[in-house]
Amino acid sequence: MTEPVQTPQTFAPRIFSGIQPSGGLTLGNYLGALKRFVEKQDEGIETIYCLVDMHAITVWQDPAKLRQQTREAAAAFIAAGIDPKRSILFNQSQVSAHAELGWIFNCVARMGWMGRMTQWKDKTAGKNAEAESLGLFAYPSLMAADILAYRATMVPVGEDQKQHLELTRDIAIKFNHDYGVSFFPVVEPIIEGAATRVMSLRDGTKKMSKSDPSDQSRINLTDTADVIAQKIRKAKTDPEPLPDHLDGLKDRPEARNLVNIYAALSGHSAAKVIHDFAGAQFGTFKPALADLAVAKLEPITTEMNRLMQDPAEIDRILGEGAVRADAIARPILEQVYDIVGMVRSRPV
Ligand code: AMP
Ligand code: TRP
Repeated sequence: MTEPVQTPQTFAPRIFSGIQPSGGLTLGNYLGALKRFVEKQDEGIETIYCLVDMHAITVWQDPAKLRQQTREAAAAFIAAGIDPKRSILFNQSQVSAHAELGWIFNCVARMGWMGRMTQWKDKTAGKNAEAESLGLFAYPSLMAADILAYRATMVPVGEDQKQHLELTRDIAIKFNHDYGVSFFPVVEPIIEGAATRVMSLRDGTKKMSKSDPSDQSRINLTDTADVIAQKIRKAKTDPEPLPDHLDGLKDRPEARNLVNIYAALSGHSAAKVIHDFAGAQFGTFKPALADLAVAKLEPITTEMNRLMQDPAEIDRILGEGAVRADAIARPILEQVYDIVGMVRSRPV
């Protein structure tokens, strides 16, 4: 018999989020995600953070690099302030509930829903979609499984993940409806702060991304102070000084991006940054931004490098996180199998 299921009002607040270890983490990941993961942990809510290695392989990953990048991302989380005792930190492939629930959601979600995802459309634009992996197409269904395997209620992400979270809600609603239960919560995206969409340093209309072919387009969490300063000095801008009001940034994507980065790094609003730098030339603003970026990022990079000296310790932390994650996800998954009608009779 199906266990009596909880109604959505009774779901305990629980935060889940993930980052792909498909390259080195960028300033975009830091400001849009990591920095806010730390804030949520420090607010005392239960926090579960996952390096989604199974999402990473939806496009080709060199195995040795994937392993290295997973450890490096874990080191970045810890260096940025994630405490593996207070938060659960692990890599996705060590908790099989993700893949198992992902399959069930593949049978709940509709092809049309996946085909409408802008990320899928962007990734296949101008390419032969027929040659992409089936996993890339089903990516959002596995993402829904990541979150709902814990019945997480809140998901801090950058702006680009909004549509995927709407799809997670649709999957939860359809599952609940099809099976006549109130089993999964309808998750809340948390998209907040001054830098929910950090743009490329070379093109203010493109997202800063770990997969951009130009390294100059992004700041990596592994960049040295000199490299950070040089990338900011060379960042694309326009010839105008900074305006004295936010409205003046409307049609200036590159200038707006640098102001938003300054705001997010300093913890002030973009309005305050504009107030403080009204009329300043980029010759003044960029060095101030470079100093701030170095001051905020250098301690993280140094700590990351120190942690990377001991990969066995990182693996131990990820393994311990996986055991704790599994202890939450497994009973939820067993209930899901029961709701769906699978016979579960294997002796334990
Ligand atoms: P990904 O690198 O695609 O796995 O993204 C991991 C997290 O970082 C997600 O919450 C993204 O929304 C966030 N993120 C990635 N790039 C950016 C960016 N340029 N600006 C803000 N957030 C970002
Ligand atoms: N799709 C997310 C990204 O590329 C990564 C991700 C996978 C994720 N599973 C998740 C984010 C679950 C939040 C919750 O940014």
